[in-house]
Amino acid sequence: MTRPKIFVTRRIAESALEKIAAETDMELWPEDLPPAYDRIAEKAARADGLLTLLTDRIDAALMDGAPGLKVVSNLAVGYDNIDVPAATARGIVVGNTPGVLTETTADMAFALLMAAARRVVEGQAYTLQGRWKTWGPMVLLGQDIHGATLGIIGLGRIGAEMARRARGFGMRVLYHGPRRKSEALEKELGAAYVPELKDLLAASDFVSVHVPLTPATERLMGRAEFACMKKTAVFVNTARGGIVDQQALYEALRSGQIFAAGLDVTVIEPIPADDPLLTLDNAIVTPHIGSASFKTREKMALMAADNLLAGLRGDPPPHCVNPEALTRRRG
Ligand code: DGY
Repeated sequence: MTRPKIFVTRRIAESALEKIAAETDMELWPEDLPPAYDRIAEKAARADGLLTLLTDRIDAALMDGAPGLKVVSNLAVGYDNIDVPAATARGIVVGNTPGVLTETTADMAFALLMAAARRVVEGQAYTLQGRWKTWGPMVLLGQDIHGATLGIIGLGRIGAEMARRARGFGMRVLYHGPRRKSEALEKELGAAYVPELKDLLAASDFVSVHVPLTPATERLMGRAEFACMKKTAVFVNTARGGIVDQQALYEALRSGQIFAAGLDVTVIEPIPADDPLLTLDNAIVTPHIGSASFKTREKMALMAADNLLAGLRGDPPPHCVNPEALTRRRG
C-alpha cells in the first residue's frame, strides 16, 4: 500500500516528525528560512497533506494545483495564512493548534506589558552604553502596573489568561469584543464588559490585543483609536500585526500620544530593518515569539501531527477549523 505523501514546510519538534514519518512518506524542508510560495505549490502538487507554518501562504490557486491534497495542518492557533473557504470548497480540512499555547502566549503579552511600562529594554541599553553613572531619582521612570486598569480587546482563551495574570497584579480588568461573555466568566476573571472600543481605550492604562486577524479586525487600531488612549498608556499586541495601522501607532508613540508599546507581531514579518518603529525608544519589538517555549512548541507540533494524520485517514482532525470540508471530499 502506498503511503500518503506529506510535505512539512520547516523543521519542527523531533517527536512530531517521528510520528508523521511512521505513517507517511514525509518530506521535510531542510532550510531555516521558509520555502517560497512556488516551492510549496510544487510540493503540494504531489502531496496528500501539508504541515504548514503561519509564514506559508496557502491560497486557492495553490490548492487548485494540488489535486490530491486532503489536509493542511497549520502549526499555529491563527490561520489567516490559509484561505479556509477555498479549502472547504475543495474538501480540504484545515487543522490548527488551539489551547496548548494559550498560557505561554499570555505570559509573553504580560512580559511585554511589564517591559514596556518599566522600560526594561531601555534600561539594558542604558547599562550597556555605559550611561549608568549613579542612582538617579529621575532616571528611566515608567508606569505602575499594580492598581492600573488593563483593557483587553478580545476575551478569548488568551485574553482570559491575560485577565488572570492582571488580577494577580492587582489590576482592574475591562474587556471589549463583539459580544459580552457569560456572567460566570466575568465574575471568575473579575472582568467588566465595555461595549464601545473607544470607551475601553479611554479608560485603560494598558491595552492588550487578543483577537484573530479577520476582515472585521484588520486595522482595528488606527489613528482615531490611539487618539482615545491616555498619554500614559501602554499598548501591547501579541496577536497579528495587521490588526494595527502601524503608521498610526508609530505617530502615537513618537508624538507622546501614548507612553509605550510592546509588539510581538508586525504588519510585515520580519519587520524591515528601516521601519521607523525601530528608531523609537518607547517601542519594544520582538520576533513573533509569543508561543516560543520548548514545551509549548513541542505540544503544538504534536497537535499539528495528530491533526495531519487524522485528516489523511479521512477523520475530522481533533482541532479542525472547517470540519464541514470532509463532506466535500474529492474522489
Ligand atoms: C499562533 O499560533 O497563531 C501564534 O501566532 C504563533 O504561535
